[in-house]
Amino acid sequence: MKSYSLKINGKKHEVEADEGALLLWVLREHLGLTGTKYGCGIAQCGACTVHMAGQPVRACTIPLSGIDQNQEITTIEGLSEDGTHPVQMAWIEAQAPQCGYCQSGQIMQAVALLEQNSSPSREDIKSYMNGNLCRCGTYMRIVKAIEIASNKQMNS
Ligand code: FES
Repeated sequence: MKSYSLKINGKKHEVEADEGALLLWVLREHLGLTGTKYGCGIAQCGACTVHMAGQPVRACTIPLSGIDQNQEITTIEGLSEDGTHPVQMAWIEAQAPQCGYCQSGQIMQAVALLEQNSSPSREDIKSYMNGNLCRCGTYMRIVKAIEIASNKQMNS
């Protein structure tokens, strides 16, 4: 076991974990942040997407040993206290989820997109969201949700 210091959703956490422990399991099992999901385990589906230093990353393949303790990590729980982040609200307006399993990862990817480009074209959206898979096929509603969030941002 080793001791790790992590900065997650604005708070410092001290975690005791095996060397080689992966961020996804530490989030879920040590810290109870179960909004981040296990999908494929090989960084191919995006269900475990979180932000590190503002960039979307796949938590299922990131070892704790590779994380700088000052690097800010944001999970879906860190977007807002009560689910009212503008992208989450747009998701509700577009009724995007079906089973919901992939959706936290989709939202985290979408938030990163809109932080980089507040007015993405439909092609920009499809390209940026390309690595986030949805077995229910909610892709068109996800695109709609991102367009709603983008339009609200533009008009606020
Ligand atoms: Fe079911 Fe995406 S909503 S996997």
